[in-house]
Amino acid sequence: MRYGEGLLEEIRRRTDLVALVGRRVKLIRKGRVMWGCCPFHPEKSPSFKVENERRAYKCFGCGAHGDAFKWLMETEGMSFPESVEKLAGEAGVELPKWSPEDEAREKRKKSLYEIVELAAAFYEAQLFGDGGRAARDYLKRRGLDGAAAKQFRLGYAPASGQALIDHLTGHNVTQDEMIEAGLARPASDGRPMRDFFFDRIMFPITDGRSRVIAFGGRGLSPDAKPKYINTGETPLFSKGQNLYNFPTARAAAIKSGTIILAEGYMDVIALVRAGFAHAVAPLGTAFTEDQLQMLWRTAAEPVLAFDGDDAGRNAALRAAHMALPHLKAGHSLRFAFLPAGEDPDTLIADQGAAAMAGLLDTAIPLVDLIWRAETEGRDFSTPERLAGLERRLGEIAAAVGDAQIAAYYREAFREKVFGAYKRRAPAAPSRGQRSFRGSSKFPPRPLPGTPEAVSPALKASRLVKAGTAAARQVKEGELATLLLEQPKIALHHAELLAGLPVKDPSLDRLRAELLNLAAAGSSLEKAGVQTHFARLGLADFVARMAPREPFSDGERQEAGSPEDDPEARFLAAAQSLREMADGTSDYHRLLDARKAGHDGGLRR
Ligand code: UTP
Ligand code: MN
Repeated sequence: MRYGEGLLEEIRRRTDLVALVGRRVKLIRKGRVMWGCCPFHPEKSPSFKVENERRAYKCFGCGAHGDAFKWLMETEGMSFPESVEKLAGEAGVELPKWSPEDEAREKRKKSLYEIVELAAAFYEAQLFGDGGRAARDYLKRRGLDGAAAKQFRLGYAPASGQALIDHLTGHNVTQDEMIEAGLARPASDGRPMRDFFFDRIMFPITDGRSRVIAFGGRGLSPDAKPKYINTGETPLFSKGQNLYNFPTARAAAIKSGTIILAEGYMDVIALVRAGFAHAVAPLGTAFTEDQLQMLWRTAAEPVLAFDGDDAGRNAALRAAHMALPHLKAGHSLRFAFLPAGEDPDTLIADQGAAAMAGLLDTAIPLVDLIWRAETEGRDFSTPERLAGLERRLGEIAAAVGDAQIAAYYREAFREKVFGAYKRRAPAAPSRGQRSFRGSSKFPPRPLPGTPEAVSPALKASRLVKAGTAAARQVKEGELATLLLEQPKIALHHAELLAGLPVKDPSLDRLRAELLNLAAAGSSLEKAGVQTHFARLGLADFVARMAPREPFSDGERQEAGSPEDDPEARFLAAAQSLREMADGTSDYHRLLDARKAGHDGGLRR
């Protein structure tokens, strides 16, 4: 790293963090500490504290924390070096003298910036000059007028193959510098040195500080090969570490809380012209990890917009799998797919900005993209195939770097598999077993007893209805006990828990509080959770639930789960509750209960 810790500490020491944060967050003093409403998650009462003494901020609600550098990175989308430069400037700290080599490298870079800027200005002038007529007509045909060209500093590289070299030579730029800046190809095979770009529309690519560092060039004729060429790697430009339109989009994204990644330069221009200022594109390569981090510094859930064809779908999946190891709490991706044959440029031209906005609204979460990719159009009609799917989903969840998010992925996949392929247990004998995908079936499980054992009259009787309510109470009590004993279950099964049909108001409250704590990043340690509930006035409920010896042997058998695995007990209880709510399995419950040797909730 370029900056030593001593220097960074000096900058932190001289930075008034309270004032810095205070530019964005209204802070009030309580003792030595300033408090405000956290800018990183929605809240009404302040749980975000800033301390100049500690030179740190921290939110007790969502866990966001950091120092002055992190603050600028998170709220203004700066990179680390940018935040250091800015704060050093404000604090009057001089950044270190570099070695002579550093100095030389920076000097050379500095002059490269100037050279690339000279080229950008040259291309711009060419577009608007006599030789630029065909290029201007081309842009006009694509719906871009002079104002659009100026906004994006579009240009034209003349066809001669020497025009830029001549121009730069007139500005005392050496041939080596032209080559180093990626603007000229060296002489080879007896051919003289020549312009890197010729007869192309030029799209300047800028860095985070809006300095031009490279170009994309589009051939004018439909059969230009290749259609686009981009500046190669140079000391200023690395294609995997920059994004088209980034500095402008970053400012817009931080304001709007969202950023769009499109596939091409023309798409970005169309998006921005249609009011989506927060649009960027990669630079002729697949979306990289560095680019993902750039997006995340501006918005929590960037939307990646891909073509609706196979290539687009594959690119989306590659991006999804690339992102998995890097997911962090609150940060994900969403995916929007264009109709076949369209890209944002053509969609906006044909159907307008509203159509584009509508499409962005349909963006699906990362977890759904992966689920669809693994299941759509496939047949899981045999146990082996279903097991194969589950194994594959397990591998995908295992690729998630963050342990808690990985657990949520596992949970989400389990839910989806359950919902799609395992749900409806047999409701009535006439309906038979749940079938997979149309007609294929698992072999029916032998049922204990015969369905006829419970007559329709009995099923409709008050006795059975009362039994249902009582059984439900028992199950809900079981759940409450389990959750109080093992609050972490709520972390691992948040989605399932949230979706459970719960009648008991105390359990409902318990559940809501647990999910809130989980969402706020709590690790749900048992002691902390119980204190928390006591403070909320749920002490009675806790006392009522906690000491109960949870399961009689009968209940254990009924649940059909290993007695010492609370998670399995939780899943079994949740499943029973769901079945009761569906009203599908009253008689199965009775039958199961009979098998287990008691009356399945009919007792009181
Ligand atoms: P597309 O071919 O989808 O380009 O490539 P586009 O933006 O729709 O271009 P138009 O509308 O035909 O002008 C998307 C992006 O992929 C890169 C460019 O960055 C382009 O913007 N690309 C494409 C290349 O680098 N080289 C190519 O030959 C083609
Ligand atoms: Mn296009």
